[in-house]
Amino acid sequence: MSRVRHLYVHLPFCAHRCGYCDFVTVVGRQAQHRAYVDALLAELALEGDVLADRLDTVFLGGGTPTFTEPEELARLLAALPAADELTVEANPETVTPDLAHLLREGGVNRVSLGAQSFRPHLLRVLERRAQPDDVRRAVYLFRDAGLDNISLDLLYGIPGQSAADLASDLADALSLEPEHLSCYELEAKPGTRFTHAHGGELERQAEAMEGYFEAVVDTLTAAGYRWYETANFCVEPDRAGGRDLRAQHNLAYWRGSDYLGVGVGAVSTVAGVRRRNLPGLSAYVDALSAGASPRREVEVLDAQTQACERLMLGLRLDEPLATAEVNESLDHVALERLAANGLVELISNGACDALRLTCRGRFLGGAVTAELVELASA
Ligand SMILES: C[S@@+](CC[C@H](N)C(=O)[O-])C[C@H]1O[C@@H](n2cnc3c(N)ncnc32)[C@H](O)[C@@H]1O
Ligand code: SF4
Repeated sequence: MSRVRHLYVHLPFCAHRCGYCDFVTVVGRQAQHRAYVDALLAELALEGDVLADRLDTVFLGGGTPTFTEPEELARLLAALPAADELTVEANPETVTPDLAHLLREGGVNRVSLGAQSFRPHLLRVLERRAQPDDVRRAVYLFRDAGLDNISLDLLYGIPGQSAADLASDLADALSLEPEHLSCYELEAKPGTRFTHAHGGELERQAEAMEGYFEAVVDTLTAAGYRWYETANFCVEPDRAGGRDLRAQHNLAYWRGSDYLGVGVGAVSTVAGVRRRNLPGLSAYVDALSAGASPRREVEVLDAQTQACERLMLGLRLDEPLATAEVNESLDHVALERLAANGLVELISNGACDALRLTCRGRFLGGAVTAELVELASA
């Protein structure tokens, strides 16, 4: 079996819970951070033999990885396998000079900073703790520590956000010259405080979001960023000294590569089997401190499901997707029709046929992909 080259590590602790978030998180619990890192390392020791000797990517996501007690975060970083890309998600208000140096000394070479917005009234709606100046300060501190691959997360579609607010958010983000930007439409996650308070508003504004999405893409591509995935943008190699600044870890997901996930609630996909650790923190820590694997759901992915996922994820990218990889879930009649309508581009390259969405197809995104997939499974 070929070895897995991508590792996700989940750090669930946050200073508080933002109303719109449904990730696996717990508030505070500083007294448990040590036991949790012990559990992560124990899970890695149990599962890590699927990993290659040297990894392409490691991603520490959350939660708020940078809220983890510093000595525990440093201990974890020191124990992780080496990787070409080591990313940590960071919340702006947690970034201090010491934290930035801790990350750098721990081998981190990419940070993903949750800015979300630079407008104080929108940060209030999101219940964010960081103010716009915290985001700027965090970027400067990372730069001072020598980090030269910084990504900013932005949200659009926040209730009360005008088109002018969005333009200002994009301008503020661009003025920090990040290597990478992720711009997500705010989703109403079922059962969250935010959906209870604002779900109706999000539904009413859904149509306006197409215009917001186009504004994001137009602004960032005009500023010289490559729109390489539906919600993700990076500085082009010719402006980056030839570096490929796409998020290599996420690229592995979108390309359907295998990955190992460790931590509470973490997901792994290895050799057609998906495993999801259950979300309870205490049960996770207790199982591993007793030398057992954490409880998890296991799903065997059949060939059609794998092809369907490959199609849905692969078409989010700007690179061609080999037709042979997705034939099992592809409706060829729909494909011809969508190609004739200028939504899908068919690329014939000798023996290998491939497809990708055109620019217009990418703006319609999920709707075009759903048509290709749905008809196949009907
Ligand atoms: C796992 S979260 C954690 C990042 C970090 N703790 C923070 O709050 O910035 C990663 C990203 O997912 C996005 N996200 C979280 N909830 C979302 C939602 N309801 N809709 C769309 N994007 C969301 C945010 O942009 C966030 O930066
Ligand atoms: S959005 Fe980030 S900081 Fe807020 S609760 Fe979710 S993971 Fe924690």
